Amino acid sequence: MKLHRLAACLAMLICQACSWYAAQETIPIDPHSYSQPNKALASHLAWKGQVDFTLKRITARASWVIETEKDADTIVFDTYGLVITEVLLDNEQPTAWKLDRADAILGSALRIALKKGTQTVHIQYHTSSNAKGLQWLETDQTSNQQHPFLFSQGQAILTRSWLPCQDSPALRFSFDAELKVPPGLMAVMSAPNSAHKSLSGTYHFSNPKPIPAYLFSLAVGDFEYKAFDDRSGIFAEKSMLESAWQEFANLPPMIKAAERLFGDMPWSRFDVLVLPPSFPFGGMENPMIMFAAPTLIAGDRSLTNLVAHELAHAWSDQLLKHASWEDFWLNEFFTSYIERRIIEEMEGPSYAEMMHSLSNLELARNLAHSKMQKQALILVPDLEGKDPDLVLGALSYQKVTAMMMQLENSLGKKSIDQWIKKRLESRPARVYNTSSFVETYQKELFASSPLDVTTLNTWLYAPALPNNYVPRISARFANVEAVAGLWLQGEEITYLPTGAWSVYEWMYFLRVINQGQLPEARLAALDETLQFSSSGNAELQAVWFQLILQHNYLGALPAVEAYVAKTGRRKLLLVVYTALWNNLLCRDKAMLWFDKYQMRYHPVARNSIQQVLHP
Ligand code: BES
Ligand code: ZN
Repeated sequence: MKLHRLAACLAMLICQACSWYAAQETIPIDPHSYSQPNKALASHLAWKGQVDFTLKRITARASWVIETEKDADTIVFDTYGLVITEVLLDNEQPTAWKLDRADAILGSALRIALKKGTQTVHIQYHTSSNAKGLQWLETDQTSNQQHPFLFSQGQAILTRSWLPCQDSPALRFSFDAELKVPPGLMAVMSAPNSAHKSLSGTYHFSNPKPIPAYLFSLAVGDFEYKAFDDRSGIFAEKSMLESAWQEFANLPPMIKAAERLFGDMPWSRFDVLVLPPSFPFGGMENPMIMFAAPTLIAGDRSLTNLVAHELAHAWSDQLLKHASWEDFWLNEFFTSYIERRIIEEMEGPSYAEMMHSLSNLELARNLAHSKMQKQALILVPDLEGKDPDLVLGALSYQKVTAMMMQLENSLGKKSIDQWIKKRLESRPARVYNTSSFVETYQKELFASSPLDVTTLNTWLYAPALPNNYVPRISARFANVEAVAGLWLQGEEITYLPTGAWSVYEWMYFLRVINQGQLPEARLAALDETLQFSSSGNAELQAVWFQLILQHNYLGALPAVEAYVAKTGRRKLLLVVYTALWNNLLCRDKAMLWFDKYQMRYHPVARNSIQQVLHP
């Protein structure tokens, strides 16, 4: 693999010398894509797809408009498990093509012979049952229980399992699509979507602004739309539509807050689609239609920061393109900053500061753990030969948040805001890998207050934090610590001043009281008063279950089972299954419940949990 990369680098250097290349942007090598964009690049897609719920199959024709180097004789696409039935050029001319032998992680390269001057490549194909980027849900896995549901999840390299594409985060394409679904069902894609179901079951989409393959997405099911205003609203199954609409009602002012900070929203719309429980993430930033887990409907708007995060991607994704999944941190680095700035505007700085403090606390807890987790602290991992999905974990987010905070402390928010805004106004996103980013941004952004090389290298490449990083603790947490101290001395929680606490204060409280051996009766009393086991906030529940499993309060095990039965979000399932596994009395339960519920989980969640249960 390494040799292959070296050869590709050399080829690129030679290519740079030729005139065609001089006008183009240099696209660095991505170890997770077979495509050779410096020779032939797919820049626009016209896609016609048909969804068959009986066969659990998408049959489609992908017509790619391509841009090629003068003498390019081949274009290469990524595929995973696709059955290719025909490949034609331009006006339906046949051509030679070949699917390479499949790699377990990357799939197969599809190599298509080009003629002189070829402008379009048409690929007729259908998906197979191992399409990792699609989840087909039976009617009983939906909330209305009457129709099946289908959704895609492209990040990191899963889109190739339902679209032959150049599947690298560095490459973007515009698209038009026609999608046929069973009449009566709604269909949406990462494009402006219709508010109404099509009677015939045929939908049309058009997104003229280029997006990377991992954000090309669709969902089909029996869901409806309720608008907030003329550019935002909620798609959800009927039973959840109203509660979701209430929960996310501050979306329009949130968009306005982000626009005040960073200029016009790069997308013409921003809707939220609430998915069935198996959706493996809290949120996914699919353009113009964020995909959201149903657990975000906490009942008290306490998880809307996830909406702020996916909304932040609308701006951060236009700042730069990460060259490969090894540079994934770059994408979340600016997103986490923009998210926090939005939260500050919406909820005030002290609220945002609590979120940041909690992230720091989790980071410190993780740092105190095993060797394997420390490796996950390397922000720029070597992913060659590895599945990128298994390394894009919670730790990278916590470290990125800490790094951004150090930068913010030295530069000040004002100058970072101005820099982001200016950059968005002045140029389209370019491709950066970590080293080209560091080079450019040391000059531009960090110029007035550069991070010294040791600090920067520790942030990026070491499984540790720099010595000069001083985590800030939220001022609101001082009160929590005082209350926790009193509770630990035996006071009852009802008599302590916790009245106006937010969910973050409670999460911090649960972390602080996690010391010594807490008697079962005290934890039971806490649960009785505050109902943590049945909280509407799934993140708080996860922190609670970690605590009680560590302290053997096993009376709440039925609530833990109910949680792993209804949750699909990987991050939360992982912490709860890990806590079960770490308690020797509960290990058999972890195995039993995983066996029982794993078919409800999305494959990406299932794979990750499997690593915990069979280390
Ligand atoms: N794009 C990510 C989700 C993702 C990460 C998908 C890695 C596949 C691999 C999304 O923007 C995200 O970060 N979601 C977070 C929420 C956020 C508040 C940190 C999530 O779902 O937990
Ligand atoms: Zn994100």
